[in-house]
Amino acid sequence: MSMIPVANPDIGEDEERLVLEALRSGWISGRGPYVRRFEEELASWVGVRHAIATSSGTAALHLALISLGIGPGDEVIVPDLTFASPASMVVLAGARPVFADVDPRYWVISADEVRRRITPRTKAIIIVHLYGVPANMGEIMEVAREENLYVIEDAAEALGATVLGRRVGSIGDVGVLSFYANKTVTTGEGGAVLTNSNEVADMARLVRDHGMRPRYWHVVIGHNYRMTNLQAALGIAQLRKAEHLLKRKREIARVYVEVLSGVEGITTHPNPPWGEGAFWLYSILIDKKAFGMSRDEVMQALAADGIETRKFFYPLHTMPAFSAYADNKYPVSEYLSARGLSLPSGPKIGDEEVLYVAERIRSLHKES
Ligand SMILES: Cc1ncc(COP(=O)(O)O)c(C=O)c1O
Repeated sequence: MSMIPVANPDIGEDEERLVLEALRSGWISGRGPYVRRFEEELASWVGVRHAIATSSGTAALHLALISLGIGPGDEVIVPDLTFASPASMVVLAGARPVFADVDPRYWVISADEVRRRITPRTKAIIIVHLYGVPANMGEIMEVAREENLYVIEDAAEALGATVLGRRVGSIGDVGVLSFYANKTVTTGEGGAVLTNSNEVADMARLVRDHGMRPRYWHVVIGHNYRMTNLQAALGIAQLRKAEHLLKRKREIARVYVEVLSGVEGITTHPNPPWGEGAFWLYSILIDKKAFGMSRDEVMQALAADGIETRKFFYPLHTMPAFSAYADNKYPVSEYLSARGLSLPSGPKIGDEEVLYVAERIRSLHKES
C-alpha cells in the first residue's frame, strides 16, 4: 500500500532542465556560476546582504558558530526541543550548549526563558523556529542587545515565516537554512548561512572552502562545506516557486485547522500573534485523556490507514549524546515531545488527502 507521506518534494520540469544544464556545462563541483546565482537569489528572497550556500544545514550552523568566534569557554543557549544539530554543532565548535525549555503555547523559546539561562559565559543564543513557528524575534533581539549576545536564527524548518514583516533568518546576527529533501525548498542535501555582516560572510566563505585564500594557502583551519553547482541549480528552480510552495503549506494548514480545531484533546499548530508561520510540517498535540487515544496509538491507527506521521523530537537533555548538559528541568519540552505529531504536509499532497487525514484523526476521538 502506498502511504501518504509526511513530506515530499515538488520537483518539476524547471528543476530537471536547470540540473541538466549545470551537468552539461561541466560545473559540477562547488566552484561555479550556479552556486553564485543561487546565493544571490536566496539572499534577495530572504532579505539579507549575504547568503553562503553549504553542503547541509548542519554545516551552515557550524560555520555560523565559527564565524562568530564561538569556541571553548563559551556557552550557547539552545532549545531543549529541536532537531539535535544546533546542539551538536555547539559542542563541535568547542562550546557548551545550555538547554532552555520552550514555551507551552508556541513550542519555541521565549525571551523570558532566554533571560533565565544567561550566565557570564553566555556568548550566543540559537533560536530554532520549530516546525515553521516563528519565535518572538522582536523580544529576543532586545534581550540579546541588552546582554551583548549574538543571535543565530536556525530557520531550517521555517523558510518564509515572518516576524514584524521580515523573513526569519534575516533578523538575528546570522541565519541558517537547510535544503534537505523534506524542506519547503530543497536541493537534495544543502544549506545556507545568511547574514548582513561582511565579516561573518567573509569568514563563513573562508572556512567553507578549507580556510584557504588564495588557493592552497591556508590562513585558518577549514572544512569542505561547499554546495555543488548541481544542487544550486536545483535550488534556483525551487526558489522560483518558493512563494507557491509556501502558499500551499498555508492552505494545507487551513484545511487541518478547519477539521481539527475544537476536537477535544487536540491542540492545533500554533500561529503566534507576532508573525506568520511557515507551517513546514503541520503538527498537533494529542492529549490521551481528553482524546481517548495516546499520540502513539493515533500514529499506529493512521499508519494502518496508509498515513505516515512523525513523532516530535526527543528532548535533547534525555539523550545519551547530551545528558552531560542536562542542568535543569524541562517540563514543557518533555510534555510536547510526548504528545506532538507531525502530519502529512508536503507541497504535493492534495486537499482531498489532507481532508482524509484530518477526518481520520477526528474519527478516532472517543466520542465520535
Ligand atoms: C532545526 C534544524 N536545524 C538544522 C537541521 C539540519 O539540517 P541538515 O539536515 O540540512 O543538516 C535540521 C534538519 O534538517 C533542523 O530541523
